[in-house]
Amino acid sequence: EFSVTVKSTGQTFLVPAGKSIVQVLAEHGIDIPVSCEQGVCGTCLTGVLQGEIDHRDQYLTPEEQARNTQMTPCCSRSKGASIVLDL
Ligand code: FES
Repeated sequence: EFSVTVKSTGQTFLVPAGKSIVQVLAEHGIDIPVSCEQGVCGTCLTGVLQGEIDHRDQYLTPEEQARNTQMTPCCSRSKGASIVLDL
């Protein structure tokens, strides 16, 4: 598990194994638009301000993934204990 922080509100939530960032945020009324929910379409693409992304999508190129500035929170996760999203 890891924590996800919404920069604009300062809210932090725990993301357990088996749940996506999108699912956890939706449970708290923060809706990120999704379509495929499998890391293919890029609809959920979100900026990342802090933390190391565990990319699990096929949407971003390896170069884009290496920049560590945006992620697909429908499936991608955090490598470290916390991640801060530009929401
Ligand atoms: Fe399609 Fe996240 S909803 S990549």
